[in-house]
Amino acid sequence: MKFPYKLLRRRPDHHYVPTIYGRTAGKMRDIRDDAVFKRLADRVMLTEPRRTLLYYDRLHTLYQAFLNARDLAEDGPHMAEIGVFRGGGSAFLASLCAEFGRDRASLVAIDTFEGHAAADLPEGVEAAHETGTFDETAYEDVRGYLAPYLFVEVVQGRVQDRTDCIDRHDYGLVHLDVDIYLPMIFGLRHFGPRMLPGGIIVCDDHGFVTCPGVPKAVDEFLAESQRRFTRLNLMTGQCVLIAGTTAP
Ligand SMILES: C[S@@+](CC[C@H](N)C(=O)[O-])C[C@H]1O[C@@H](n2cnc3c(N)ncnc32)[C@H](O)[C@@H]1O
Repeated sequence: MKFPYKLLRRRPDHHYVPTIYGRTAGKMRDIRDDAVFKRLADRVMLTEPRRTLLYYDRLHTLYQAFLNARDLAEDGPHMAEIGVFRGGGSAFLASLCAEFGRDRASLVAIDTFEGHAAADLPEGVEAAHETGTFDETAYEDVRGYLAPYLFVEVVQGRVQDRTDCIDRHDYGLVHLDVDIYLPMIFGLRHFGPRMLPGGIIVCDDHGFVTCPGVPKAVDEFLAESQRRFTRLNLMTGQCVLIAGTTAP
């Protein structure tokens, strides 16, 4: 019998457009059916003003990455988010630690909190990005917002200048969300060798035409890396890198 496609509910707000991704996209489960995910994602999505530029789909990738990374070591996961903006992504990761009882976890959240730095844009502009893009935030505000999570360290500055705060060698999960080439390639080179075997780096904006520096950095990093990474380019626009089982 032919599958009764006309019975599938057409969700007008469905991210994965059936005419592009196939008509069976209508059968996809709503990721918010996972009650834990929905509750924690809603907490950062439904604030006014919004605390994160990520939507449910990209938060769901972080959720899955966390569930894999949390058991890589007894006293983790040790995590970093580079590119924090108003703190929603970091708050989401921190709330996962609290939810799943990872009381020996850590999270370093680094941002200039003044938007892109002039030093990171030698040509003054990179696609849609200019000096000061994403400056509608403040270090004190984000530090206050994340203060309930005692294991979160909020650090102000360019990631390139704050390696003193990210020098451990047992990272389970790193979220690189800086949009432009220079801090992206720096983050990959810094964290790549510092990931636990099986540790996960989520590179945001990889599939976005507005961020050509991100795939450029990922390509260069993988070509030069001594360590093997499994690379998954997702439909969400994120690129997921999973560190090989042997440390470099
Ligand atoms: C797209 S926003 C991050 C969004 C955030 N993760 C969220 O959940 O909404 C990109 C951020 O990267 C930061 N950034 C850019 N270059 C940086 C650098 N060299 N070091 C640290 N942060 C940087 C910007 O200040 C900006 O806040």
